[in-house]
Amino acid sequence: MPSQLSPHVSDIAPGRGALRPARSWLHSDAPSRSLNGSWRFRLSPTASVTEDFAADSFVDDGWDSIPVPSHWVLEGDGAYGRPIYTNIQFPFPIDPPHVPDENPTGDYRRHFDVPADWSDAERVVLRFDGVESLFRVWVNGVEIGSASGSRLAHEFDVTSAVRTGDNVVAVRVHQWSAASYVEDQDQWWLPGIFRDVTLIARPAGGIEDVWLRTGFDHGRGRVEAEITADAAAFPVTLRIPELDVDHVWATPADVAPLDVTGVEPWSAERPRLYDTTVSTATETIALRVGFRTVEIRGDQFLVNGSRVVFHGVNRHETHPERGRVFDEEHAREDLALMKRFNINAIRTSHYPPHPRLLDLADELGFWVVLECDLETHGFEKLDWVGNPSDDPAWREACLDRIRRTVERDKNHPSIVIWSLGNESGTGGNLAAMSSWVHARDTGRPVHYEGDYTGEYTDIYSRMYASVPETEQIGSDGARSALLNCTPAQSARQRTKPFLLCEYAHAMGNGPGAFDQYEALVRRYPRLHGGFVWEWRDHGILATAPDGTPYYAYGGDFGEVVHDGNFVMDGMLLSNDVPTPSLHEYKSVVQPVEFVFDGEKVAVTNLRHSADTSDLRFRWRVEHDGVPVASGDLEIPVVGAGESQWASLPQVAVAPNAETWLTIDATLATPTAWAPEGHVIATAQLDCSTRRPVPAVRPQADWRPGDGTLSLGIAEFTGGSLVRLAGRAVTGPRLELFRAPTDNDESPSDGVEDSDDSIAGVSSADLWRRDGLDRLTTRRVSVEHTADALRTLDKVSAANSALSVMVESVWSIEDGELELRVEIEPSRGWQAVWPRIGVRFELPDGTAPVDGAQWFGLGPLETYPDSLRAGRTGHFSATVHDLSVDYARPQETGHRSELRRLTLTSGSTEVLRIQALPDIRGRRPGFTLSRHTPQQIARAAHPYELGDSTTSHLIVDAAQHGLGSRTCGHDVWPDFALRPESRTIRLRISEG
Ligand code: GAL
Repeated sequence: MPSQLSPHVSDIAPGRGALRPARSWLHSDAPSRSLNGSWRFRLSPTASVTEDFAADSFVDDGWDSIPVPSHWVLEGDGAYGRPIYTNIQFPFPIDPPHVPDENPTGDYRRHFDVPADWSDAERVVLRFDGVESLFRVWVNGVEIGSASGSRLAHEFDVTSAVRTGDNVVAVRVHQWSAASYVEDQDQWWLPGIFRDVTLIARPAGGIEDVWLRTGFDHGRGRVEAEITADAAAFPVTLRIPELDVDHVWATPADVAPLDVTGVEPWSAERPRLYDTTVSTATETIALRVGFRTVEIRGDQFLVNGSRVVFHGVNRHETHPERGRVFDEEHAREDLALMKRFNINAIRTSHYPPHPRLLDLADELGFWVVLECDLETHGFEKLDWVGNPSDDPAWREACLDRIRRTVERDKNHPSIVIWSLGNESGTGGNLAAMSSWVHARDTGRPVHYEGDYTGEYTDIYSRMYASVPETEQIGSDGARSALLNCTPAQSARQRTKPFLLCEYAHAMGNGPGAFDQYEALVRRYPRLHGGFVWEWRDHGILATAPDGTPYYAYGGDFGEVVHDGNFVMDGMLLSNDVPTPSLHEYKSVVQPVEFVFDGEKVAVTNLRHSADTSDLRFRWRVEHDGVPVASGDLEIPVVGAGESQWASLPQVAVAPNAETWLTIDATLATPTAWAPEGHVIATAQLDCSTRRPVPAVRPQADWRPGDGTLSLGIAEFTGGSLVRLAGRAVTGPRLELFRAPTDNDESPSDGVEDSDDSIAGVSSADLWRRDGLDRLTTRRVSVEHTADALRTLDKVSAANSALSVMVESVWSIEDGELELRVEIEPSRGWQAVWPRIGVRFELPDGTAPVDGAQWFGLGPLETYPDSLRAGRTGHFSATVHDLSVDYARPQETGHRSELRRLTLTSGSTEVLRIQALPDIRGRRPGFTLSRHTPQQIARAAHPYELGDSTTSHLIVDAAQHGLGSRTCGHDVWPDFALRPESRTIRLRISEG
């Protein structure tokens, strides 16, 4: 072992020399200087380099420059190592508290100036808001201290080390340390000084810390102040100008609760904040105070007396170029986007975010579960032996983390729950953390999902509980034991409010079943909603060998161990583009419900406390998607939790078109997060008259033929289609495969999955086993009549006796070309199928098909268990925009409930296809893509798909649902596609 190896890296103490107790992150008028900017930087491969760089006199001319804040692995084009992604695995040997000698160590230095007028400061403090994972600090060669707790603030008293004028600060950062064992969150490992560094002059007679605890009860607000200041700093004045509060506490003993009248409460829906100052003669702190009371009453979680339903997301701090470095503008837009999509809550998974994020949450309005920076998930592999959560040696480190968490952010009205951390097993240290919080803050409950039996936390929390299990938790009907609980523990858990701290794993295309969870939340008051996993993909912007930019995931940086694309599981793509799942979520959790009944509609306000006075209701009528009338719907203001009936407008019903009435609830005035007119809720009513579907014309006089003929716009050679309207087209070809989604690729857990699933085996494995991705065809027969062509094909895969018979009948009906495909599987197919469809190929030709217009569900892709964002209408999109750029290419683009489709080339209509419903009234869906499912399945990143001008049109009689099996549960049986006979009927004409 190198003799100088830093002794600090294996030290489980949270550091030495940082100021305690931790305090709030405050907006003070005390002088401060940002030390963000360019620092001198040197990276060493081990922690054993000498510390001479810390000396005042050291010359760092040969060093590079690096921006602070940043992660060194994201700087210097790979010169400083690469990011590593793991979920649960430790990317180093599990040898706690030790880490390998190969421990990238970044040395940072910079000069800074201390102004002469700081000489009367009582203290000079150096604050680090985030450094991963362990750092030591020197000022002018004097060692100041060390700290770990990457996503937590650490302050050091540097008064005796600084001098007026030029100074040097040196910081040594180790990528790995004992702290890495308790920072095993599912995300990239990104070392460096990644949050602000600030030098602060603390004035004599200033306010060290302030906590304004607020309460609200029927128009009355309460402020309970805790002022941390020397007695000599008094008097302290509290001012809330809007409420005429101007209160002076002459001495510490005078500080007492203050009741204030005429107060509007704070809620996530109406985030009313009051600008407030707390001042002494030498310092003024500015706060934005929100009045609210959080309480648990029985099994209900209430704010200001009303039940809260969390329509939340788990939010990591991640940016494709900056990693966890905070960008306020980007964060504000992130939160505004959440609001636009009806998201009302954030769990700060799995650590405190940049402190400014909470100012934004207060201002824009979110219920926040603020989580401590703690995760020891990798110990699960050892059956939790040695888990820091239960080892007294780690107690102080755990307590230090929760104290820093709560103290830093305690003033925020948006924070309604403290969370001890994530996936850290259970143990005495977590219990100790919880009791510390209970003692420190009686105004907010404590959450920790890993406390399965409810020993030391206040909320029953689970991740990825299935729909039936969630129902069992919500209802009192089934009294069976809860997961990991004895009957007695289950009974205790049932006395508490329940929330899903994670559910609906949004990896790739999916999840399905948002609506099933939401229905339960509506039914059972104990269920308080949950937090989707997760808000955004964590892709890192990289460049492919051919120069194409792409979003990298685990393994793309040559990591020794990694977890692939499990880090791409957000409702937002890495480039901020909302995926269809976010639209689905928005629709499922929309805060206004419409129930149609005859000429009337019942409008229910599902909000926590806000009425509907901020909304305007618009209606429109469309005939086959073409708008024909619109107007405002007069709906009296609806209070939270109440309903009102309103009369529907007169709808002109078209005799030969579908008639749809759509109602939108829109914002009547602009907000901080959306413009006027932004739609927050929608409902549609089908007012169409029933129109008969043309019957299939029986044809009896079939006779064998060579299949080379023309039928209307179709030309055939040897029974196979070669042209449509003069354009090369091939098909139909049976397509049973879809490029497996991440959920399709995830092994079954054998519990609650489809009846034919096999534990440990994915649906995609079964599809490949059965050869769905490599079907071959044998033409059994070709027959004609005077105006029709019939082919019979037997479709099967190598080394399989299973088959599907496909009968295709082309005929002229009512002067138009009709294709009817009858698909009939043989007996013996065991697994679910991804799709039952037919594929057509439209090679590029002179004018490639590059877009579609359709009347059906849109505008985005929909699947059987994710249909709620789809509305019936007329839409158009380019081929490119019909697909979603999932980080790992997979099934995308399916539009359900198709009536009519026009394929376009530029502004030219190439082919028109009318989809007739089958005899059960079921309509097909379509996908138009540049690539076949087989091609898509082979690509690991979008850039690997390459360019193509061929279009592949798949018309699906049915698709399998999406499910959430990547973390959670398979497609619900009602939405699983079993091998079955289906019919597809299309009428095709020239554009
Ligand atoms: C959970 C964990 C999250 C994330 C998720 C899967 O167990 O808390 O951090 O890993 O699974 O994406």
